Amino acid sequence: MSFVERLPRQVTVVEVGPRDGLQNEAQPVPTELKVAFIERLADAGFPVIEVTSFVSPKAVPQLADAEEVMRRIARRPGTRYLALVPNERGLERALAAGCDAIALFTAASEAFSQANVRASIEETFGRFRPVAERAQAAGLWIRGYVSTAFHCPYSGPVDPQQVLSMADRLFSLGCHEVALADTIGRATPRDVDRLLALATRAFEPSRLALHFHDTAGLALANVMIGLDYGITVFDASAGGLGGCPFAPGAPGNLATERLLALLEGLGIETGVDREAVAAAVAELREAVPGIGARAC
Ligand code: COA
Ligand code: ZN
Repeated sequence: MSFVERLPRQVTVVEVGPRDGLQNEAQPVPTELKVAFIERLADAGFPVIEVTSFVSPKAVPQLADAEEVMRRIARRPGTRYLALVPNERGLERALAAGCDAIALFTAASEAFSQANVRASIEETFGRFRPVAERAQAAGLWIRGYVSTAFHCPYSGPVDPQQVLSMADRLFSLGCHEVALADTIGRATPRDVDRLLALATRAFEPSRLALHFHDTAGLALANVMIGLDYGITVFDASAGGLGGCPFAPGAPGNLATERLLALLEGLGIETGVDREAVAAAVAELREAVPGIGARAC
């Protein structure tokens, strides 16, 4: 069997632009434009869209309209609308807004955890326990994120064993899927190989997702390594919008259009219409000139 024939035939592309993309945007984006963007992306065929975060509006002012966005989007059957939740307060807000899928996020680096959520890794799990219990009781679908799974902007390279331990704890809490995130986009194909060699032995590859940023231009090469390990869930952001306001040096996410071009080129099914994604981005850029221009 050739290399390409050995790769998965079908991949889930998780569109994170409305959350990871917009959270880093300095100029305010009106709620109605976010709603229109999300609806256009759903029409493009994404099975999962990360729409917003129920975090502190002081920490991420751009997403202060999380309730309104969640309530106003017309739900397309077959699309999962995901929202980040940092604590019980966030879960209450998410439930009140009608969310049925949430993402909990922690980090593999203490320094990043402090910068991102003003808590140690241990404290984040203390916050998650009651959230996960209530979310499970309410029948929500739960994703877990391990941020800085390769490099931390503050403390450098991250030990893969630490990532495995975080992923294990997230699965134990009841997460259905765990995303390993290269928050600052510094992972090399060799880093990805090293982590996945361990992670795909420890966990079911179908329950792992990869979240790459494209800082060093290596995101697609890293996706190729993931595919070779049988990973079938990849995050990307329409138009390459985004970055993380708490991670200096994290400019763009892997652009969805580029990921789709790669997957199409490998003959891998996604169910997403690449031109419709480009049209959704063009519409947003026309309404908000200069969007995505800020480098973190
Ligand atoms: N939604 C809305 N407001 C919230 C909130 C939530 N989920 N959680 C806390 N707050 C508010 C509190 O009410 C309090 O408000 P006040 O100052 O008006 O009294 C304030 O935020 C601080 O609350 P506290 O519990 O002390 O939290 P904190 O200051 O330690 O911050 C987080 C913790 C997690 C809430 C905050 O750091 C955060 O939202 N970070 C966002 C991280 C993020 O989105 N990163 C990008 C994704 S990886
Ligand atoms: Zn990201």
